[in-house]
Amino acid sequence: MRHVIGNWKMNGGEALLREFASGLPGECPWPDVRLGLAVPAPLLGAAVRMLPDWVRVGAQNVHWEEAGAFTGEISPALLREVGCRFAIAGHSERRALFGEDDAAAVRRLSGALRSGLTGILCVGESRREREAGRAEDVVERQLRGLADAGEPLDLETGAEALIAYEPVWAIGSGEAARPDQIAAMHEHIGRLSLRFFGTVLPVLYGGSVSGDNAAEIFALNSAAGALVGSASLDVRGLINIASEASRIA
Ligand code: PGA
Repeated sequence: MRHVIGNWKMNGGEALLREFASGLPGECPWPDVRLGLAVPAPLLGAAVRMLPDWVRVGAQNVHWEEAGAFTGEISPALLREVGCRFAIAGHSERRALFGEDDAAAVRRLSGALRSGLTGILCVGESRREREAGRAEDVVERQLRGLADAGEPLDLETGAEALIAYEPVWAIGSGEAARPDQIAAMHEHIGRLSLRFFGTVLPVLYGGSVSGDNAAEIFALNSAAGALVGSASLDVRGLINIASEASRIA
């Protein structure tokens, strides 16, 4: 099973959703691929209504509490209520531009899981960290926070935790990480997740994934899927990537 998750970031509106919905088949054409789309929060309800059921709608961020005095935050319970199936936590843009740290990312992931949403924790190093030879340490630190939080990852709610390895330098740059770099980091994350959580969590790759490089990414056994930003704004782009994920299953 592979996950192909589109992330519209702060883009799109109802017109794009309509165009998207009209470009998708009524039934899922790939039994071995789960397609998801993370749209901006004000579009979540419309996305659940307009997209076919087999497309999982998700949020780009989520709070750890279900309700309370947290102005501007997004309740995981409410996400469930409007029909969301997953939420992203710790995206590098949240970390770099909005001051979210490892602890917040982990709490957000936990909030999603406790509410029965699939949670996707993003990890990844900056260019400077890679050049300094610290990429593996940075990712270890980001994952250790999750281990320290002691969150049970196999909750009875059926919630599922996924890790997305997204090197910051590859996001939105048009320069995806090389397959050997992805494979090495996926292996590192696999070892860490076995050590920290007693299980190998599925690991996606994100950062300039497109129809042009999807095949070489999915050729990696370690790639449980892809988190796709700009290429997901075009329904054909996302369909191409999902078809590759299925072809090279
Ligand atoms: P990109 O974004 O595909 O545009 O590089 C990926 C992401 O931020 O999840």
